[in-house]
Amino acid sequence: MKGIILAGGTGSRLYPITRVVSKQLLPVYDKPMIYFPLTTLMLSGIRDIQIITTKEHQQAFQTLLGNGHQWGINISWCVQDEPNGIAEAFILSEDFIGDDHCTLALGDNILFGNGLVGLLQSIMKPTLGATVFAYRVKDPENYGVVSFNNEGLGIDIEEKPKHPKSNYALIGLYCYDNNVVKIARDVKPTLNNEKHITDINNHYLKQGNLHVQSLGRGYAWLDAGTVESLHNASAFVRSVESRQGIKIACPEEIAWRMGYITDSDLNILAENLISSGYGHYLKEILLEDRKKYDIIN
Ligand code: G1P
Repeated sequence: MKGIILAGGTGSRLYPITRVVSKQLLPVYDKPMIYFPLTTLMLSGIRDIQIITTKEHQQAFQTLLGNGHQWGINISWCVQDEPNGIAEAFILSEDFIGDDHCTLALGDNILFGNGLVGLLQSIMKPTLGATVFAYRVKDPENYGVVSFNNEGLGIDIEEKPKHPKSNYALIGLYCYDNNVVKIARDVKPTLNNEKHITDINNHYLKQGNLHVQSLGRGYAWLDAGTVESLHNASAFVRSVESRQGIKIACPEEIAWRMGYITDSDLNILAENLISSGYGHYLKEILLEDRKKYDIIN
């Protein structure tokens, strides 16, 4: 299974903050936003990840994340020249995907909840078809919206409908078989040249190959694409982290707990960050039992 993170776009809903900085590099409390989708993929067991950015911001992302080897993963890089829609990610990543299945995570989506790791790992398997995730929100008109029949099966997906048929938005995390590349190629662009991810999902839905996994109470799905939602996401992460004394979406910790890096690797990463509380946190967890896996679940 390959992973893709789409971290392009203009971030115009966050202007002027994103005039010179990429949205996905902005802080969500104590870490850059892209750490969240990146760790969602890592926790799903995905270690080959392609990150798609704008040309303008690619260097900054590369300075932050490099080739990923420091965290026991492989990161490759790709540029989306124009904001041509989420579905274009699969066309840009065709060589990277090869014959594999792939999971796409949007760079501004934050997922958190007990049991999430087990759920993701059970879903991110190379099976035929696609899996998407639905979450109840109060403003479905701002998202892809799925409606269900009486048996709870997804029957229709609409992109930002004026009159949503349900309150269930689709999360920016999509798991597809290898057919997605061809399906993405066949998606008709909108008038402003965007290929919508919703058209891909509807394609799988019509074939009877789309599994809609609902995330109920107890999960948090936040996006951070507006000033308000970015602030709320930061406040959420701060509340949980300061109450429990554990970090959410900490790639160093996850790499270590998953056995991708050794104690001494983590120690070196901690030393490099020792001027901040983040580095001290990494030092502290080193004293714990690494196999205490439940702490990231
Ligand atoms: C995109 C998708 C939408 C999805 C959302 C999740 O919208 O088009 O279907 O619900 O991500 O974050 P965007 O945020 O790019 O407007």
